[in-house]
Amino acid sequence: MEIFRRPGEMQAWADAQRAAGRRIGLVPTMGYLHEGHVSLVRIARERGCDRVAATIFVNPTQFGPGEDYERYPRDEERDLAMLRAAGAAAVYLPGVRDVYPEGYQTFVEVAEVSRGLCGDSRPALFRGVATVVAKLFHVGKPHVAVFGEKDYQQLAVIRRMVRDLDLDVEIVAAPTVREADGLAMSSRNQYLEGEDRKAARCLSRGLFLARNLFLEGERDPTRIASAARAVVEAETRATLEYAEARDPETLGPLRGPSDRMTILVAARVGPARLIDNITLQGGEAT
Ligand code: PAF
Repeated sequence: MEIFRRPGEMQAWADAQRAAGRRIGLVPTMGYLHEGHVSLVRIARERGCDRVAATIFVNPTQFGPGEDYERYPRDEERDLAMLRAAGAAAVYLPGVRDVYPEGYQTFVEVAEVSRGLCGDSRPALFRGVATVVAKLFHVGKPHVAVFGEKDYQQLAVIRRMVRDLDLDVEIVAAPTVREADGLAMSSRNQYLEGEDRKAARCLSRGLFLARNLFLEGERDPTRIASAARAVVEAETRATLEYAEARDPETLGPLRGPSDRMTILVAARVGPARLIDNITLQGGEAT
């Protein structure tokens, strides 16, 4: 597995793969990897990528003041071992100055889909994500890029950016990987200890209740979202930020009963801000 820290090195690798006719898969991450990230590497391979490159970069522009940029968990050695075991061919690990050199002033803003939900409480988030992902695409030159569905609004922002900017990258959504008790895997779960860890299950419990209502025939998005919200609100260690039913593609509000909806929740539990979602459609829930 090759390791690159400068954009030019990574671009040279990507150029060589393309020149050899190989299909490149890219898995952008902020490191502190878990099984969910490993599944992204596997999915890139299953999508016909001959070489999969991962990126590890805790992107400062997507954190607002007072958020967890400084304390975001980092463990380069462990991450590299996991990526090697997962069969990644290359890893791009730039420093902040490699991505944002002195005088940097260009940003990508995806207007509508970045608003509401996480965009309300984290106004810097999606501008930072869109900017860094656009840059990672220019450096890694992927044919395919894989992102986890756990960050559902992020995925919608990236899809919109790819369409709007005519980027020649296929975006693949990977299903959320969960712990045995239902908690969605996240690097931020690291912040959870003891009773907070147990309390964090309220997000997935709320979503699973929503799924059951849907499977029993309920189609009213307000009622389904309210049921999920009530589960999170009943957990005394959790502070609900939102629990909403939205259109799975646009993330716009639903005006009435629907056969397709995504329920998205966000809550603070102890020192962690957690998000999760589930998409309900036809007789299915993912
Ligand atoms: O989901 C993440 O880990 C990050 O937001 C991403 C997409 C790597 C951009 O920094």
